[in-house]
Order: sequence, then structure tokens, then C-alpha cells
Amino acid sequence: MSLVPLLELSGLSVRFPAEPRPVRALDGVELELLPSERLVLVGESGSGKSTLLWKIAGLLPEEAEVTGSCRFPALGRAPVPGRDVGLVLQDPFTSLNPVLSVGEQIGEVLVTHRSASWSAARQAAVVLLRRVGIPEPERRVDDPPHRFSGGQRQRIAIAIAIAAGPRLLLADEPTSGLDTVVQAQILDLLDGLVREQGAALLLVTHDLAVASRIADRIAVLYAGTLVECGPAVRILSDPRHPYSSALVAIARALEAGRIDALATVRASPGEPEAAARGCPFAPRCAFAFARCRVERPAWSGDRRAGVACHLAVP
Ligand SMILES: Nc1ncnc2c1ncn2[C@@H]1O[C@H](COP(=O)(O)OP(=O)(O)OP(=O)(O)O)[C@@H](O)[C@H]1O
Ligand SMILES: [Mg+2]
Repeated sequence: MSLVPLLELSGLSVRFPAEPRPVRALDGVELELLPSERLVLVGESGSGKSTLLWKIAGLLPEEAEVTGSCRFPALGRAPVPGRDVGLVLQDPFTSLNPVLSVGEQIGEVLVTHRSASWSAARQAAVVLLRRVGIPEPERRVDDPPHRFSGGQRQRIAIAIAIAAGPRLLLADEPTSGLDTVVQAQILDLLDGLVREQGAALLLVTHDLAVASRIADRIAVLYAGTLVECGPAVRILSDPRHPYSSALVAIARALEAGRIDALATVRASPGEPEAAARGCPFAPRCAFAFARCRVERPAWSGDRRAGVACHLAVP
């Protein structure tokens, strides 16, 4: 594995203009990803996970105010969206075009990014459909998306995302909304494809059990702030930030069929103004002390591993 990072985020902040005040969706994120590394990003709803992926994919809306940097050192140039970076979204019902056949949608990527002819692209689409597990692809390639099941549509969305052979595959909760068996199949598919292609994977999920299956590293986002990052095995066995600990406790409890651990982070989100000055997690943290409410903990570590918590500083 080359030590030149594929992706390097430095002090990355994103704000969206909004009333009564702008939304700070990401705040000073430091993160890197090596070629062929698998990073899982976890965090609750609204923590900025999709914003991070959209920024990396080059697809943030124009009104977003971005500071800091998002670079691709191993590419040595700006990435071409759809070619160097593939994106799989949460909902295959809205991410596929309802009026084009699945073969046309896969083929379009190859025609645009790999200068393929339409007839070669159609043949390649059949191969890709087979590779993502669609039965009888020769017969199905001209069908529109609505003739496929939810799980099959997500497989097709994955085929589109990998068609041009991207160096980085971004997947934003690609399995929510699918039943458990299909979820596991889709994850195994993603895992296998990125291995085969030697690509890197940045996967967003709410589910730490998912993370434990495929992650090399885990990054935990809370209210736009990276609160912890490190090797998956270490985060799952020895989380250092109270929010990561709570997520791990919840995952263990769900595994064991107990849900009482949900209480650990279900407390009130608290006063946003107070959180703006101190640690964003302080209003919900069982271990918060006076300093946490007035001073934001600095990131202690580097772009591969670290924690932002007054209690966790070595
Ligand atoms: N285009 C936008 N305009 C204004 N605010 C936005 C925009 N996109 C996202 N936000 C806000 O930025 C914050 C982060 O949103 P984001 O979608 O990144 O969260 P998320 O972690 O992906 O949540 P979920 O798990 O629900 O998908 C939220 O407060 C959201 O309302
Ligand atoms: Mg999201």
C-alpha cells in the first residue's frame, strides 16, 4: 500500500446559509484515506456525514461555504466526479433515472469517462450487471429500473458507481431501507468490488455492526465535528470519546437484544449556544465537567487517528 494518501482533508469546514443562523455542517475535519483502505464514517442524523461525502464527490450545492482543503495527493490532480470518485446513495429509487434502461445508465458512464462506443458500453454493462449479481443480464440490460427489486436497484446503482473504475468509492448508507439479508449481501458485494478493483471505500452508516464487518478504520462524527478516528478494532474494543463509547454500547446491546443502552445518548441535545462554545457533545455527555462547557477540545492526534475530548488527552 502506497503511503501517499488518496484523500486528505485538512481543516475542512462547510456552512450552509440558513435562517435564523447559518448551519455549520462540518467543522475543521482532519482525515486521510490511503489507497485501498476502507473507512467507515458513523454518526447520528444531521452530524454531517452526507455533507462530507458530497464535498469529496465534488457535488456540494453552490451556496455551501467551504473552508479548509480536500485534496487527492495520490491522484496528483483534481478528481473527475464519476470517473475517479464513484458515489452510491442511500435510496436507489431516486438515484436511478426512471426513463432510461439500466444498460443506458451504466453505459453512459463508460461513454462519458472511458470513451467507449455505445455498443461496447452496452456489452460492458452486461458484464457489470453480472458482476453485481443481476441474474440473466443479457435479458435485463434494456429494462428500466422499475422492473427491479429494491436490492437489485442498489446493485445497479453500485454497477454505475464502479463502471469507470474509480479510485475511491463513496457509499452513503447504501443498505438502509433494505431487509437484513439483502443488506448483508450488498455490503459483501461492495467489500468484494473495492478489493477486486484496489479502490478505497468510504462508507457511511448508522450501524456499528456494519462497520465492524468491513472497516479498516472508523471515523465518528458528532454535530459536524470529528470526535474520534482510528483503527476499527481499537475503536470497537476501546473507544476513547464518550460518544463513541455510547455508540459501541448501543451496538453491543442491540446485538444482545437489549435496548436499554439507548438511554446513554438519548438525553436532551441541550442548548445549542452552549454547545457552540464548548464541546459539542457536552450537553449530552455523562462525564462532562466545567471545562467541557466553555472550551472546545482540540483534536489530539493526526489525520489517521485521534480524539477530541478533554478527558481523553494522554
Ligand atoms: N443544502 C443544504 N442547505 C442547508 N442545510 C443543509 C443542506 N444540506 C445539509 N444541511 C444541514 O447540514 C447538517 C448536516 O446534514 P447532513 O445531511 O450532512 O447530515 P447526515 O449526517 O448525512 O444526516 P442523515 O444521517 O440524516 O443522512 C444538517 O443540519 C442539515 O440540515
Ligand atoms: Mg445523510
